[in-house]
Amino acid sequence: MSTAVSTLVTTDLPLPGRRAGKVRDLYDLAPDLDGRPRVLIVATDRASAFDVVLPDAAPGKGRLLTTTSLWWFRRLRRLEIVEDHVLHGDVEAIPELEGLEVEVFDALRGRISVCRAVEIVPIECVARGHLAGSGLAEYREQGSVCGLPLPPGLRPGDPLPETIFTPATKATEGHDENIDFDRVVRELGGELAERLRATTVELFEAARRIAAEQGLVLADTKFEFGFELGPDGRPTDRLLLADEILTSDSSRWWPAEAVGHGSVPRGFDKQPLRDWLQAEFDTGRWNKQPPGPRVPGEVREALLGSYREVAVRLGALPDRDVVSGT
Ligand SMILES: Nc1ncnc2c1ncn2[C@@H]1O[C@H](COP(=O)(O)OP(=O)(O)O)[C@@H](O)[C@H]1O
Ligand SMILES: [Mg+2]
Repeated sequence: MSTAVSTLVTTDLPLPGRRAGKVRDLYDLAPDLDGRPRVLIVATDRASAFDVVLPDAAPGKGRLLTTTSLWWFRRLRRLEIVEDHVLHGDVEAIPELEGLEVEVFDALRGRISVCRAVEIVPIECVARGHLAGSGLAEYREQGSVCGLPLPPGLRPGDPLPETIFTPATKATEGHDENIDFDRVVRELGGELAERLRATTVELFEAARRIAAEQGLVLADTKFEFGFELGPDGRPTDRLLLADEILTSDSSRWWPAEAVGHGSVPRGFDKQPLRDWLQAEFDTGRWNKQPPGPRVPGEVREALLGSYREVAVRLGALPDRDVVSGT
């Protein structure tokens, strides 16, 4: 556990089953009264890009991620599109952590979510509403995005005629790879594939409408789903929306006023970090393999500023102090 309250790089909690993703640490919690397993998800301040965890953390990023994600879970739950994995985000309400030092509580506060344990469906469910990123590159070369043909004449950043579902593999190592819908059908069966596509598109469009009221354009996003684990630890047939949702780590957020001018807007997302890293790559200073390069303070500040802007525009921040970690 980092001693500084404002930056949390890694955790080592006295809980079983610790596993670390690129950004978040997971632990097993005692089951609920029905015997269903639960997990603790801690969003650290680690930053990753191009699938590499960078050596420099972004202080407070984990709080911004958690605050934004929990806000969206609450907001979307009301629409009853799909059930989700969130139970609560209250670090004081975890019996297993009682008696830990106050510094640990302070570091975890605002960064955790207690969730139903799921077996994650091994497909990243991506929805796109605008032309950007890898979709733009493919459109320029082939006139399609992830194999889906699009009308000619679209400019970078333009809205697509309709939301498209562009799934990707959830690679356990290496990079995620875009795949076509038929491959999802082959891997998961037609029924689940259709359900994931319809649910992803419906969630995306609902989020887009809500965000538009706050002057934000959701250009694309990625959802993960999972099957809830039963008391025997085995997946049931209850599909839950899992992971984090609609954060700047998983989505492209654009200021509405910058959209529709024929170029990909500078967004409130990872792009400042990606651009800086790409320049390091282009000039031969980094080969896109771990370890990543040291990231200058101003680049990390720009990243945090972007993440904060989304939370502020949405009205998801209870107050600034909680999130800046002071
Ligand atoms: N409810 C859940 N139960 C089990 N695993 C989950 C749940 N929600 C999310 N996960 C997984 O936890 C991990 C979150 O950590 P993250 O840093 O995003 O990892 P990654 O490097 O795989 O993206 C992801 O692998 C995600 O699939
Ligand atoms: Mg992840």
